Amino acid sequence: MREHSVKLSLLSRLADGAFHSGESLGEQLGMSRAAISKHIQGLQEWGVDIFRVQGKGYQLAAPFTMLNEEVIQSQVSNPIELHPVIGSTNQYLLDRMGQLASGSVCLAEYQKSGRGRRGRHWVSPFGSNLYFSMYWRLEAGIAAAMGLSLVVGVSLVEALEEMGIIGVKLKWPNDLYFNDRKLAGILVEMSAQAGGAANLVIGIGMNLAMQDKDKDQDIDQPWASLSEVMKQDHIDRNQLVIRLIKALNEALIQYEYTGMQNFVERWNRLDNFIGRQVRLIMGPNEILGVERGIDQHGGVLLETGEGVKSYIGGEISLRKHD
Ligand code: ATP
Ligand code: BTN
Repeated sequence: MREHSVKLSLLSRLADGAFHSGESLGEQLGMSRAAISKHIQGLQEWGVDIFRVQGKGYQLAAPFTMLNEEVIQSQVSNPIELHPVIGSTNQYLLDRMGQLASGSVCLAEYQKSGRGRRGRHWVSPFGSNLYFSMYWRLEAGIAAAMGLSLVVGVSLVEALEEMGIIGVKLKWPNDLYFNDRKLAGILVEMSAQAGGAANLVIGIGMNLAMQDKDKDQDIDQPWASLSEVMKQDHIDRNQLVIRLIKALNEALIQYEYTGMQNFVERWNRLDNFIGRQVRLIMGPNEILGVERGIDQHGGVLLETGEGVKSYIGGEISLRKHD
């Protein structure tokens, strides 16, 4: 932990965007220049873009505002926990479900093992994006959990629209898209249980200002950042995540009452691939067809020579077909 606190102190000093010499940082934190250099390297490994100019010192390539637990907690009623560094916000909540109230939120600035569906890696550099999860006890039970990532997606895009951020779309079943590239992903996980309410963790990773250097070998598909959608670099991350948490919470309450019913049209308006040629990949099999939106169960509708058929299940991947 001490290890993290030094890095976080360094970041708070660099946050002004000015140059800071290794010597002055060392004096402020009571350590040698060599130790500072080691911690700077650690920050770079977390994905923070810091560079060094001979004779001037260290500077952040792009200053950013850290998430602030107090600010967020003062504006949402859900219990909030902010961890600068974590394995995975989803895993953190999954491990603590028994002690948490439904609606509890965990946020992080950096995930060491952020994950997507089927255990794939979610690239989570420090401070540039949003990574958060909500624990939700779904009284409607496990069967109703199927459509949940769709409902979450709709609520997030609508919240962005309400903030004037226009042009974000949805890809079935769990992605937010911008200009045919992945902007955010949703991961719904549940703890093993028999019957009754479903204990779910809903995780969201949204790229805000991801840089080319972050894409490394782990992102095997085109990606986008919210800064492109807004055509500006500065995003108030605290205000954004507050709006998203509120939208998510409201959508989950509504879903408990109405199920998918109210969401099908809302999804179809935002569906990135509606009316377009797509491929559905199911293990070794692929089906080509025209995407026709979703149905009441949250399945994706595909039109082929044999008519329109609904497909549903966690093993299905949808890709555009040019
Ligand atoms: P599928 O449609 O096949 O299920 P998916 O796009 O929903 O795929 P996941 O299976 O959830 O993806 O896995 C996460 C994928 O997201 C990784 O394979 C990687 O290509 C991509 N990825 C990882 N980190 C990021 C990120 N920060 N931004 C955009 N895409 C990312
Ligand atoms: C996807 O791949 O489409 C889903 C990605 C979900 C990533 C988020 S980031 C916050 C939460 N914690 C995780 O480990 N994953 C989710």
